[in-house]
Amino acid sequence: MSRGQIALITGAAGGIGLAIAQRYARDGMEVILTDLQAEAGEREAKAIREAGGRARFIACDSSDEAAVQGLVDTVEAEVGPITVAVCSAGISKGGKPFYETSLADFTQVLNVNLIGAFIVGKAVAQAMIASGTRGSIIHISSVGAVLGVETSPAYCTSKGGLGMLTKVMALAMARHGVRVNAIGPGPTWSPMTQAALDQPAVDMMLSRTPIGRFAEAEEIAGVAAFLAGPDASYVTGQTLYADGGRLALNYVVLPVSA
Ligand SMILES: NC(=O)c1ccc[n+]([C@@H]2O[C@H](COP(=O)([O-])OP(=O)(O)OC[C@H]3O[C@@H](n4cnc5c(N)ncnc54)[C@H](O)[C@@H]3O)[C@@H](O)[C@H]2O)c1
Repeated sequence: MSRGQIALITGAAGGIGLAIAQRYARDGMEVILTDLQAEAGEREAKAIREAGGRARFIACDSSDEAAVQGLVDTVEAEVGPITVAVCSAGISKGGKPFYETSLADFTQVLNVNLIGAFIVGKAVAQAMIASGTRGSIIHISSVGAVLGVETSPAYCTSKGGLGMLTKVMALAMARHGVRVNAIGPGPTWSPMTQAALDQPAVDMMLSRTPIGRFAEAEEIAGVAAFLAGPDASYVTGQTLYADGGRLALNYVVLPVSA
């Protein structure tokens, strides 16, 4: 179904980005993995190739405009026109309320999570317009885009901004046949969550997740496959929340005991 498609995935050395790269490769896309972590990225691209997929890793800081332009130029010249771009690179750097957060930390999170998506989206959009490619751009947002967490001021602000970036990009790209959407995962197992969450934090999150478990990264990849594919041909400007029911839950209502 996806033969002939070329997908560029940022933050693809691990977690959700890697699961999306693996899924796209299984669906027949040629995948370009990019990340700061070169060793892990090279290893994962090799594993995809050994499993029969077409994959290549190119190291790149997705918040560096010149580096991203070089990456997109290289892919367009050496592989072909990018048809799908997924921005999964992200950092959290939480733990403090906004009034104790340094400007450096706040700016760094915005640079990677929001401005990085602008940089990648702009370079890919220009390439798609130049090649006349009717493609799809997908941001990885979060339930944090619409639910504030006191100790994650930069992260939540970055994801809130990403929701609007998704809309304005979708409006500008509609006439070019390019759809732009975001996925808003709820709690998902990945190196990020495994490193950051202790058991009490996991229990707290599960108490507010109606499905009662974390998502596997592959479940988020399934949504990315839908958004990149023909079944989503009329879907653009949306954030699709794959959140185990989190946003449907009014916390002040006590659950009925089972
Ligand atoms: N895991 C969750 O529960 C969850 C929930 C909601 C949203 N998300 C979002 O999903 C995305 C992926 O998160 P994850 O859980 O897989 O985390 P992760 O830490 O496992 O993966 C993120 C990847 O991004 C890479 N990265 C960071 N900064 C980069 C940069 N400047 N340039 C290139 N690569 C960079 C990291 O090296 C890492 O491989 C993030 O945007 C995150 O905010 C995750």
